[in-house]
Amino acid sequence: ELRDISLELGKRNDRHLGSALSRRRAEVRRPRRSEQVPQVLPLHELHLPTVLHAVDHQCFVPTIDQEQQLFDAAVGGHRGVIARGADHVRARGPLEGRDPARPQENRRAYRELLFQAPGLEGHISGVIVHPEALAWRVAGGELMGELLQARGIAVGVKLDLGLAELEGGGPGEQRTKGLEGLAARAREGARAGASFAKWRAVLKIEPAAEGRGALPSEAAVQRNAEDLAAYALECQREGLVPIVEPEILLDGDHGVERTAEVTERVLSRLFAELRARGVDLQATVLKPCMVMPGTGRQAEAGPEEVARWTVATFKKCVPSEVAGVVFLSGGQSEELATRNLNAIAREAESTGAPWELSFSYGRALQASVLRAWGGQEERVGDAQRVSLALASANASAREGRFEGPHPTAA
Ligand code: 13P
Repeated sequence: ELRDISLELGKRNDRHLGSALSRRRAEVRRPRRSEQVPQVLPLHELHLPTVLHAVDHQCFVPTIDQEQQLFDAAVGGHRGVIARGADHVRARGPLEGRDPARPQENRRAYRELLFQAPGLEGHISGVIVHPEALAWRVAGGELMGELLQARGIAVGVKLDLGLAELEGGGPGEQRTKGLEGLAARAREGARAGASFAKWRAVLKIEPAAEGRGALPSEAAVQRNAEDLAAYALECQREGLVPIVEPEILLDGDHGVERTAEVTERVLSRLFAELRARGVDLQATVLKPCMVMPGTGRQAEAGPEEVARWTVATFKKCVPSEVAGVVFLSGGQSEELATRNLNAIAREAESTGAPWELSFSYGRALQASVLRAWGGQEERVGDAQRVSLALASANASAREGRFEGPHPTAA
């Protein structure tokens, strides 16, 4: 089925494959004031942050083609990424209005709702989908990927195959499955319309206990860094921009200092492995957690403090050349995820942090959408409005311009 899709999308995608890579490699060049008026700049002169700044300030109008290429980047514009499209439908169990015996149909209905939400493209630059969604058609006959691309939303494909126990790790530590056959899956994803990909590794923080040291163990940090780097290299060989996601779970009673220490260790190791394998960091997007206390002590740090810790920690270990940093929400409430992102964007701006910062939220962009929908056909419009409001709030937050009230506070 994917081969058929590739025939349909083939020509169109040939243009896009690798475009994000070449764009990120494009010459870095700040326009002089006198140069800020032209309607069109040759593509090789584009530098993403410069152009986005120019677009924001309305001194540069990209052509459709250039715009498409900008959208291709997972961090494009003042927008963000929706992650984990339909995992939640699976995870939440029965929805009042849907037959639980037809999970695939339920996921399809949810994706249609989400991907067709009017106005979404104003706030969302990319959507990460399970490979199954790339082969699906919406009611009108269009492939899901085509539908998103036509709206100027880039498609990302989840390439990992979930988690497994980590041999030689501490109790409950995990590694991510999926390196076997990865090149073929990446190629198929790219041919079916994806321009970026993601791979999630999971680490957890626990204090030392009898007979073992504190977690994450050395084995977990090293193995996950190596696997993320191997995945990233494979993606780039196939023309996909890799999102590398080393999620450090928030569970626990540790303070923010401990999260900062673990984050620095995990990210330093990750970037050492990425560099050692020759991964192009300019064409790599980092998807990290915010640096905050464990859930048991969440109230100890408000958004400003989370922002200070996050930016200060990243400055120690995240290279300035990464294409972007898109935060996951990690089980924070929808409102907290927005407020923390807003504070981080402000802190980054005021301290001159070098990265393009955005969001790639799963739960924090969808929990209320699912609740509003409840699987009922007649509530699709309401759910789409909730989706738009959440996307809009977070798009403002990534610019440090979220003023509230939060859509979930109503
Ligand atoms: P959350 O924002 O719900 O943490 O999901 C992000 C994600 O992509 C996890 O893989």
